[in-house]
Amino acid sequence: MAVEIKKDIFWVGVIDWEVRNFHEYITQNGSTYNSYLIKDKETVLIDTAKDYMFDELINGISQIINPKDIDYVVVNHVEKDHSGCVDKIVEISNATIITNEKGKEHLSLNYDTKGWDFLIVDTGDEISIGDRTLKFIRTPMLHWPDNMVTYCKEDKVLFSNDAFGQHIASSEKFDYEIGDEVFEHAKEYFANILMPYKMLIPNTINSLKDLDIELICPSHGIIWKEKIDEIIKKYLDWANDKIENKAVIAYDTMYNSTKKIAHAIAGGLIDGGVEVKLYRISETPMNTIMKEILDAKYVLIGSPTLNGNPYPEVGKFLTYMEGLKPTNKIGVAFGSYGWMEMATEKIKRVFESLGFKIVDDECLKVKFAPKEDDLKKCYEFGKRLADI
Ligand SMILES: Cc1cc2nc3c(=O)[nH]c(=O)nc-3n(C[C@H](O)[C@H](O)[C@H](O)COP(=O)(O)O)c2cc1C
Repeated sequence: MAVEIKKDIFWVGVIDWEVRNFHEYITQNGSTYNSYLIKDKETVLIDTAKDYMFDELINGISQIINPKDIDYVVVNHVEKDHSGCVDKIVEISNATIITNEKGKEHLSLNYDTKGWDFLIVDTGDEISIGDRTLKFIRTPMLHWPDNMVTYCKEDKVLFSNDAFGQHIASSEKFDYEIGDEVFEHAKEYFANILMPYKMLIPNTINSLKDLDIELICPSHGIIWKEKIDEIIKKYLDWANDKIENKAVIAYDTMYNSTKKIAHAIAGGLIDGGVEVKLYRISETPMNTIMKEILDAKYVLIGSPTLNGNPYPEVGKFLTYMEGLKPTNKIGVAFGSYGWMEMATEKIKRVFESLGFKIVDDECLKVKFAPKEDDLKKCYEFGKRLADI
C-alpha cells in the first residue's frame, strides 16, 4: 500500500513475499518491486513491477491518484521485474515514457511499443515537472546497457533502480527500521547482480558525488536514509576487492570422499587462523556461496569425477561463478576420483579464466576413499595455505 516517503513522493511498489527464484538467485526472503509516484503539476511514475503484480500496483497508485492521470513513466531499466506493467499503464493513461535510447530500443524488443510516446534522455538531462526537476544519469552495464538513475533535485532523492537494491520482502520501508542485516542482503545482491561489472562502480559513484542525497530509493528492498554513507562505502569496498582472511570451500560428492577432503582442508585452514565457510553445493543456494566469495581471499572447489567431468551440481556452480567474475582470489581445486581424474582439471580451467592464483598439491586428488594419511596431508595443506 502507498507510503509517503517525502511530501508528495510515494512508494507505490508491491511486496512479493513468495518469490523464491529470480533467474536462479534464490530469494529466501522474497523481494519487492519498488515503484515511486511523484505528484506535482505533472504526475510521474518511476519504474513499475512484474506483470503479475499489476493489480497490486494499481491499488497502491489509486490510493493517491487516478491511474489515468499519470503523465510520465520513467523507465530506468527495462528488465521485466521493473517494466512488466509499463504496457498496461500506457494503455490506461497514455503516459509518455521517459527513458534513454537503449531503454527505448529494449522496450521495443520486449513490448509492442507502436503508438507509445517517448521522451529520450541522456546523462545530465533535466525536465521540470512543476515544482520539481528530474535529472537523469545513465549507468550503463549496472547491470544492463539501458540502466539509468533518476534524481529529484528539490527533494534530494535518488531513484537508483537496481543499484543499492536488496532482495527482501518487508513491511518496513526504511533502513533505520531494520537492523544491520540489511547490509548482508545488499552484499548478496551486489555479489549476484553487480559483481561482473564492479569495475564500473567507483566511477559511477564518483559521478553521483556532486548530488546532495537524502534518500536512495532502489527498485528492490528498503530505502536508504540513515545508512547512505555506510552503503556507499561498502559498495566501494566490494567493487575494489577488499578481502577478508576468509576461505570459501564449496564441494559436492556422491559417496562422501570429496566431503572428507573438504573437511580436512577446512580443519587446517581454521587452525591456521582463517575464517572458513563450507558448503555442499547441492544443498546451498548458489547466491549464498557467491555472497561469501565476494570478499573471500581463498576459493576452494571440490568435486568427484563423474564420467570425465565434475559432478553436475559443481559444473552448474562453476558456470554461475564464472559469469559473475569474482577476481583477486587464491583458487584451490580438489576431489576424489577412481581411474582418470578430470574434475579438478576443469575446475582449474575456470580459475584460470578468472585470473585466480592457483595453488596445487598432490594431496588434493585422492583415488577413491581417502585414508587417514591422505586426510592428514589435506589438513597440513590447509595449514600451509593459511600462510599464503
Ligand atoms: C557413474 C560414475 C562415473 C564415474 N566416472 C569416473 C570417471 O570418469 N573418472 C574417474 O576417475 N572416476 C569416475 N568415477 C569414480 C568416482 O570418481 C569415485 O568413486 C570417487 O571416489 C567418488 O568420489 P565421492 O565419494 O566424493 O563422490 C565414477 C563414478 C561413478 C559412480
